[in-house]
Amino acid sequence: MQAKVFVTRIIPDAGLEPVRAACAADVWDDRLPAPYDTLIERVRGVDGILCSITERIDANLIEAAGPQLKVISQMAVGYDNIDVAAAQARGIAVGHTPGVLTEATADLTLALLLAAARRIPESVEYIRKGEWRTWEPQTLLGHDLAGKTLGIVGLGRIGKAVAKRAAGFELRLIAHGPRLTDAEAAAVGAVRVDLPTLLREADFVSLHTPLTPETRHLINPTTLAQMKPTAILVNTTRGPVVDQTALYDALTNGVISGAALDVTDPEPLPADDPLLTLPNVVIVPHIGSATVGTRNQMARIAADNLIAGVNDQPLPHAVPAQI
Ligand code: GLV
Repeated sequence: MQAKVFVTRIIPDAGLEPVRAACAADVWDDRLPAPYDTLIERVRGVDGILCSITERIDANLIEAAGPQLKVISQMAVGYDNIDVAAAQARGIAVGHTPGVLTEATADLTLALLLAAARRIPESVEYIRKGEWRTWEPQTLLGHDLAGKTLGIVGLGRIGKAVAKRAAGFELRLIAHGPRLTDAEAAAVGAVRVDLPTLLREADFVSLHTPLTPETRHLINPTTLAQMKPTAILVNTTRGPVVDQTALYDALTNGVISGAALDVTDPEPLPADDPLLTLPNVVIVPHIGSATVGTRNQMARIAADNLIAGVNDQPLPHAVPAQI
């Protein structure tokens, strides 16, 4: 008998086809994610769940699924929406999709950094509003990159890929991470520093740390005050790493100069959020991994993890043990 699985979103065929071929798949096919109570109903009795960052997979949901549940396969590298410890305590394997989205996310980080530094969205608006009358010596002036300092918070896979790209823009690189060594930083041309030094010296601060209880609101009124008034903050990791109210205050009071965000808190960001009224903020809707090739690879890996798990095989990309 085929394993029963629930797929929480319509994922690319590269992943959906193998899942449908190997399992009896129930697929949530709305554009919007299923409400939590509906999820609970749909996961009852399944052997595997293929989910994404939009689902809260907590201990209650894992319990509700039942004792036959073998695997939770997340189509993302981050898994802060999943109670991994609760799953692993019940012997349920948890999978994710590391590696394949590194380059796409690093590309987007540089795109956001450049967009904010060179005021691209404001410039686009300027033309649309009919304000482009002539070339002006002092209009829409942004920040140079060459010779400036980029501070990378979290020098993991994505942080390192950002460092490689940033070196091409002749940025000086400094990096901070709780377990980062001098040698690891030097391997990508960065100097390891502590967080206060990074915030004090960086012209651009880019966040690449996962969301954990320790990193929630890592960027807060105190850390924002340590940054340069000319600094730009880039966040492509998880919204709650930044205290967004503090960010709004910092941007309106000249504590820092700009921000570029792929992630917000909450997501989606309500259309009337005050951040959206600021000209010095660039916000895109969590598109770090949103390329055709990358999403296909993520879907394929999520499918491989799911199929391995329901067949009692080790997952090709398991989340490390948390218990
Ligand atoms: C996306 O945010 C991911 O974690 O893959």
